[in-house]
This record gives sequence, structure tokens and C-alpha cells, in this order.
Amino acid sequence: TITSLHGREILDSRGNPTVEVEIWLACGARARAAVPSGASTGVHEAHELRDGDQSRYRGKGVLHAVDLVNTEIATLLQGKDAAEQEEIDRGLIALDATPTRARLGANTILAVSMAVARGAAAASGLSLWRSLENPKGRAAMPVPMMNILNGGVHAAWQGADFQEYMIVPYGAPDFREALRYGSETYHALKALLAAKGYHTGVGDEGGFAPAVRSNQEPLDLIVEAIEAAGFRPGAEIGLALDPASSELYGDGEYRLKTEGRALSAGEMVDYYADLAAAYPLIVIEDGLAEDDWDGWRLLTETLGDRLELVGDDLFVTNVERISRGIREQAANAVLIKPNQVGTVTETIAAVDLAQANGWGAMVSHRSGETVDTFIADLCVALGTGHLKTGAPARGERVEKYNQLLRIEEEAHGCLPFAGREAFVR
Ligand code: PGA
Ligand code: ZN
Repeated sequence: TITSLHGREILDSRGNPTVEVEIWLACGARARAAVPSGASTGVHEAHELRDGDQSRYRGKGVLHAVDLVNTEIATLLQGKDAAEQEEIDRGLIALDATPTRARLGANTILAVSMAVARGAAAASGLSLWRSLENPKGRAAMPVPMMNILNGGVHAAWQGADFQEYMIVPYGAPDFREALRYGSETYHALKALLAAKGYHTGVGDEGGFAPAVRSNQEPLDLIVEAIEAAGFRPGAEIGLALDPASSELYGDGEYRLKTEGRALSAGEMVDYYADLAAAYPLIVIEDGLAEDDWDGWRLLTETLGDRLELVGDDLFVTNVERISRGIREQAANAVLIKPNQVGTVTETIAAVDLAQANGWGAMVSHRSGETVDTFIADLCVALGTGHLKTGAPARGERVEKYNQLLRIEEEAHGCLPFAGREAFVR
């Protein structure tokens, strides 16, 4: 039984305020959760509640959100059974009473929803992934999708137009080794960049942010780094791309500043087809913009049998948008970000919908993170097979990977490593 809740304003990895919630149960169990925040947010995401008071944190304070946790929400949850996650989440959604969580904020609600899930796990003496899994039996260790070269808004537009260049060590025998493959490649890339006279400062997600001259050049650099680290590109380590193309889109075209040209959706599809032919690409996320449904259908028709095509801004973890995508065959996988929707229950429903239709589900961090590791446990419990949570560097990124090491150890070899099979094509 929940006895009390306490919200507080803390900082995320970009130094902006975010919401943290503590929960106490009658049995003595206690838990805590904190929510992340995006930079290249989709326009269809649920509402993130900020104070807007320009005299504090440039308007980004969350004192009102914290106050809502400590008053209205605490009253609603008092005396409730933390194990009744769905009922509690339904109650939070009803209390908000807006279609986009505009009154309470998806950030506020999610911090509470996650704290409840952790509280229930603590009360039952289970680790979070086991508590979330019960009793579905689909748990697996994910392939880490490590964003080792950052561009776009995550690198202040100083380098590539495309936001994320990820390495995907699906050929490793287990998670622990996959993490080593990734880390060694990351360090090989750093040495390679330095040798070529590039800066080795990092972007928001811990990847390097060099001032490259094209959007293709990072792929060449990464393939060279994989080889330099002693791995086989394609066989052991594949590549994934998140151009975050909603950020490049305007007036019907995609502007590639680095290359001094703008492409139509059809030309973007051809561009990706060329990349897929030249590099060991396995995933493209947000290859086209958040409302370019025609473009997405063309992309899926053209490349859906070769690549996992993941909708992030397109679907925003929203079951209605995912359902439309499935009906229209507009992609073949969904990015899963709990704070795009606002509750643990809705997040799990989005994964269930994707999996029931043979689609991929890729759980993801945000570019503004905390050291909260909820998504690591979530992706294991739901057997999504892949988790993207940044470079193998910077505390808030590494902590998720470290949590996966702990889970793998706790499971004593009983959790399968998803490997290449995890990717829908
Ligand atoms: P964001 O970026 O957290 O800044 O939205 C992550 C992504 O686009 O996948
Ligand atoms: Zn994305």
C-alpha cells in the first residue's frame, strides 16, 4: 500500500531541471525514479510540463510539476496497491483529463508511474525486470545500439546533419561482450579522429561530434574504426542511423546543410538505398519526417525487406499512430520512449502492439538523461532485443549499460542474448 509520495526538482545531463519522485509503501519499501527530456522532440509527443518562469532556469523549471506530485497526485495514490500498475496509470490519465497530458505533464505522470513500478518490485523483493516481466516469459538481453558519432541538434549542428551514427554489435556471444566490442570500437574511433585532425569532443549522447564534410563520411570513419579495433564490419558489428529527419524537413524537402543540397522524400529513399548497398546498415530510424506518411510508405516498400525501419517522431510511442503505421505499412518497427506517452502501462501497450504485429520495438533513452536505469530493466522484461542508450561514455549513458551487466549476472546465463535475430527485416 502506498503511504506517501514526494516530488523534487533535479537536473538532467544537459543541466536542465527534471522531475524525480520518491515513493514509500506501508511495508517499509521505498523507491525513486527520475525522467529524461528530449531535444529533437516530435510534435506529436505528450506534453512536457515546464514552469515557463523566465526568472528560473530560463523557463525550464519544474516546480509546478513537483507541486502536483506532492498534492493532487499524492492524494490520488494514497492507500492504493502499488502492484496495481494499470489501475494507477489509468487513474493518473483520468486525473489529467486531457488528450496530451497537458494539465499534469507527461514528465510528472511518468516519474510517478515509474516510481510505482519500482515500489511494487521492492515490495515483492524482485528486481525491476523480473517484476515487470511477470509472468510473460519473453525476457532477453538486448543488443546495445551505441551512438558513437553525434550530429544535428545533439552536436549544435557543427558536424553531420544526421543526428546519430550507431554501432550494433549483434555478432557478440552475449551482452557483456557486445559492450566490450562497442567500447573498443569507440576508443578506436577516437584515435582515428585525432589522427585525422578532427576534434574529439563529444555531443549530448556521448558520441564524438567532428566537423565532417558529408553525412556519409562518419560511416567510412566508423567502418575503419571497427576494423582497427579488430572486429568484422557486418559480421560482428553492424551500423544504424538516426537522421532525426523531422529536424531537416521543411516545405516538402529535406535540407542537408553539410552537403549544400535539399532532397525530396523519393531522393532521400534513394540516398538511403545507396547507403544500404555500400555499408553494413541494419537499422534506419526516422529516415523521413514525422508527418510524411507517403514518404514512409515508399521507404518501407523500397527498403523494408533489407532494413529495420524505426519510427520515432512518426509514432511517438502512441498506439493510435502505431496502429495507423501498421495498417499503412509505413515502417516495420517502433522506437519506445516512455516519456513520449507518460505511463508505464501505455509504454508496455505500445511494445505489445508492435510485437503482436511482427514489428520491432527499440527502447530508447532521451538526449537529456539522468542516471535512472528504468529503460534497461524494461527492455529486458519485454524482450525488445535492442536498447539504444548512447555511447559507452558519460555516466548517464553508461549507467544503463552497467545495469544490463548487473541483470545479465543476476540471471546466471538464463536470459538469451537477442543478437541479430532481434532485427526485423
Ligand atoms: P531526443 O533524441 O531525445 O533529443 O529526442 C533522441 C532521438 O531522436 O532518438
Ligand atoms: Zn530518434
